[in-house]
Amino acid sequence: MSGNGKLNMVGLCGSLRAGSFNHALLRALPDLAPERMAIAEAPPIGTIPLYNADVQNQSGFPAEVMALAEAIRAADGVIIASPEYNYSVPGVLKNVLDWVSRVKDQPFRAKPVCLQSVSGGQLGGARMQYHLRQIMVFLGADVFTTPEVFVGGAQQKFDAETLALTDEGTRDFVTRQLKAFADYVDRVSG
Ligand SMILES: Cc1cc2nc3c(=O)[nH]c(=O)nc-3n(C[C@H](O)[C@H](O)[C@H](O)COP(=O)(O)O)c2cc1C
Repeated sequence: MSGNGKLNMVGLCGSLRAGSFNHALLRALPDLAPERMAIAEAPPIGTIPLYNADVQNQSGFPAEVMALAEAIRAADGVIIASPEYNYSVPGVLKNVLDWVSRVKDQPFRAKPVCLQSVSGGQLGGARMQYHLRQIMVFLGADVFTTPEVFVGGAQQKFDAETLALTDEGTRDFVTRQLKAFADYVDRVSG
């Protein structure tokens, strides 16, 4: 908890698409979060190069990677909303996690992390989330378990023009998850 007396979360999106449903979900979160939780978007990740240990050794970490690592370190928790690509974690997100995992005092260690996914399919990105959980094991993150948020059939859940999250059932479920995540952060952060 920092100066504002709230649990400060950083929201990271696994899609770079301008019309991303996952990004739209992240934008909806501040409205659905409990009063004591603040959610800020992570610094932009769209220009982070593909991970290359030679680049890291010769030029150090890209500024965007360090900015993201700092944002994660400073936050009380991280909320990741990501699509499922080919039954797994999108390369964009995996690449970012690979970079951040090499930073000194890797910021995901013991960091509470909450997962969400939106997809066009019925399973709502469940397969991606279980692969992401496995990655988070190696990073030593404290990944929140239930309730899980899998938003399937994305086109029916968001307004076609504004991308506002309009589906009441989904809004309810996400609200419940964020409340439970806040309680979890209190518990694990002691
Ligand atoms: C490369 C690629 C692979 C995809 N693979 C899956 C998949 O395995 N499962 C699924 O439910 N949807 C899959 N989709 C559809 C995405 O769920 C859908 O495009 C979603 O809207 C992407 O998230 P976004 O709106 O946040 O960009 C895939 C889409 C792309 C572009």
